Amino acid sequence: MRAVILSETGGPDVLRLAEIDDPTPGPGEVVIAVEAAALNYADLMQRNGTYTKGVALPTVLGIECSGVIIEIGTDVTGWMIGDRVCTLVPGGGYAERAAVSASQLLPLPRGVDLVTAAALPEASATVWSNIIDTCALAPGEVLLVHGGTGGIGSFAVQAGKALGAEVLATAGSEDKLRRCQELGASRAISYRTEDFAREVLAHTAGHGADVILDNMGASYLPKNIEALAKDGRIAIIGLQGGREVSLSLAALFAKRASLFTTSLRDRPAAAKDRIVTGVRRDLWPHLESGRIKPVVDRVFPLAEAAAAHRYMETGRHVGKIILRAGG
Ligand SMILES: NC(=O)c1ccc[n+]([C@@H]2O[C@H](COP(=O)([O-])OP(=O)(O)OC[C@H]3O[C@@H](n4cnc5c(N)ncnc54)[C@H](OP(=O)(O)O)[C@@H]3O)[C@@H](O)[C@H]2O)c1
Repeated sequence: MRAVILSETGGPDVLRLAEIDDPTPGPGEVVIAVEAAALNYADLMQRNGTYTKGVALPTVLGIECSGVIIEIGTDVTGWMIGDRVCTLVPGGGYAERAAVSASQLLPLPRGVDLVTAAALPEASATVWSNIIDTCALAPGEVLLVHGGTGGIGSFAVQAGKALGAEVLATAGSEDKLRRCQELGASRAISYRTEDFAREVLAHTAGHGADVILDNMGASYLPKNIEALAKDGRIAIIGLQGGREVSLSLAALFAKRASLFTTSLRDRPAAAKDRIVTGVRRDLWPHLESGRIKPVVDRVFPLAEAAAAHRYMETGRHVGKIILRAGG
């Protein structure tokens, strides 16, 4: 099969399309003919060498994909050859075939095509594990999503609204602020020209955000605490704004704040299985009803993975960028 191989870290041009052996399913696994894989911020970090959880090279990038089951290993129940699925993968998504754990498969939501479905596993699992599971967002609460038009953010804004929260979001351009509102944010805040903490407090009459989904880390932590409601929860999912910060515990105490850091990819298989079960139970119905719509910006052929990475690095995208292996 053909796959996009990372043999050395560097710029987008280190990505190479190569012929490698087809995968075979281990116990509990199926092999899917991959239709599409979606790009993630973590793929860029892995490619440029800034990903902290080292993955040995050479490797095939890609942590989520969609496709059709073509082979079933031992100890697999509930799935058949020909089923159309999407799934998290620990790596190996940028390929024509992938051996994946059957317990992490998700069926295509009604009305979502096979290519678009590649956009769903990582965003839905990240949103479920942080907003629903860890932060227990309740209907009527206020959710602040940073980067409301990103791959994760565009799903999070819609999910927050579908779960009955009031959603506020940050973004970096006029067009993206408008898109945040179209996705369901009642207030979109420019992280370039506005003080987001002040705007969140003003918009909520001083209450603040009950839950904050944060991709920035260090640079945003003081302002996130300022923007937080009493008993608020902050889930830090990314460190785009740095790793080191000096923190006032008194400020956290004043809000009775909870601060979480989470990651998805390196969780044990049983934890991921639990997340996927939660996604299917709590978020899939909203995809099927159309209250959450996958947002796809552009689709590139698998052979143009470097161009897709280059495009993602411009930061112009809204939603997910997809690599198409099938078709
Ligand atoms: N912990 C986990 O389990 C987990 C899982 C998946 C992803 N993540 C993390 O989630 C983040 C988003 O990933 P992605 O794949 O969705 O990437 P993406 O589509 O490239 O999104 C990046 C987002 O960052 C926003 N951003 C950039 N500078 C910002 C600033 N100063 N303030 C607020 N937002 C800013 C961008 O907003 P503009 O476009 O408006 O500039 C964009 O929405 C990454 O940090 C990634 O590592 C974590």
